[in-house]
Amino acid sequence: MRSILFLMLCGVFCAGLMFPSCKHDSVFNVEPDPTDTTGTGGNNGNGGNNGGTGNGVLCNPDSVYFENQILPILISNCTESGCHNAQDREDGVVLTSYQNLVATVENATLNDTHENDLLKALTEDDPEDRMPYQKPPLPQEQINLIIRWVQQGAKNNGCNENAGQCDVSNVTFSNFVQPLIQTRCQGCHSGAAPQGGINLAGHAAVKTVADNGKLYEVITRTSNFMPKGGQKLDECTTNKLKAWIDAGALNN
Ligand code: HEC
Repeated sequence: MRSILFLMLCGVFCAGLMFPSCKHDSVFNVEPDPTDTTGTGGNNGNGGNNGGTGNGVLCNPDSVYFENQILPILISNCTESGCHNAQDREDGVVLTSYQNLVATVENATLNDTHENDLLKALTEDDPEDRMPYQKPPLPQEQINLIIRWVQQGAKNNGCNENAGQCDVSNVTFSNFVQPLIQTRCQGCHSGAAPQGGINLAGHAAVKTVADNGKLYEVITRTSNFMPKGGQKLDECTTNKLKAWIDAGALNN
């Protein structure tokens, strides 16, 4: 109901407000936390962690983990310049951590898939209202993951994917690199106007930045590293990517 009301009001007022790239109809209406300007967050709560590897809890394949699986999708698809990062706060919404999500999106922790406003924004039928704004909807497997996370209680949880071991043998483009880039990078680095002018969709594009050293360099920098505004890739992920780069960045 709220968004219908908003649309009616919007018909009158919005025409003159539409210039920044992420302006859109209000799907959320909770005031943001004005004290958080870091844009990183994600280090408290029951499953928060400090390196993207969870609290030492082993990953259970039946569970969906916010820190490991949901936050990367939000960072990659929603926090680019002009959108839901701590600086731009489009529509009052900040999606850079669980704390910010809960503080700025109504009903983000409801486990009812019809009432959860994060899920609703991503699955709106009307393309004008659906997020990511003026982009294709998220891939169905990402939507399904968010649905399962909501059904499991929309918790702030995290797990350790690489407990004890990191196997860097057998890393291929299709089994590791492509899914990683898709989840962590392509939200910003694909489409008609990729951020920083870097398009990372497809093997040839990724191989270019692998071969010129940029790919490894940007994920291992101490500041302004990629994924921009997100958590640094954990050590095992970085090592696996390096193994693939060192082996020639093959399309395997
Ligand atoms: C939230 C948006 C966002 C995400 C997610 C993101 N990037 Fe970027 N990336 C940018 C922006 C913006 C720039 C332009 C430079 C800057 O602002 O730091 C950039 C620049 C780059 C560059 C060029 C850097 C240079 O110095 O020439 C590379 C390479 C890159 N990103 C790779 C990646 C990779 C790999 C990932 C995933 C692990 C990733 N990015 C995730 C926004 C993003």
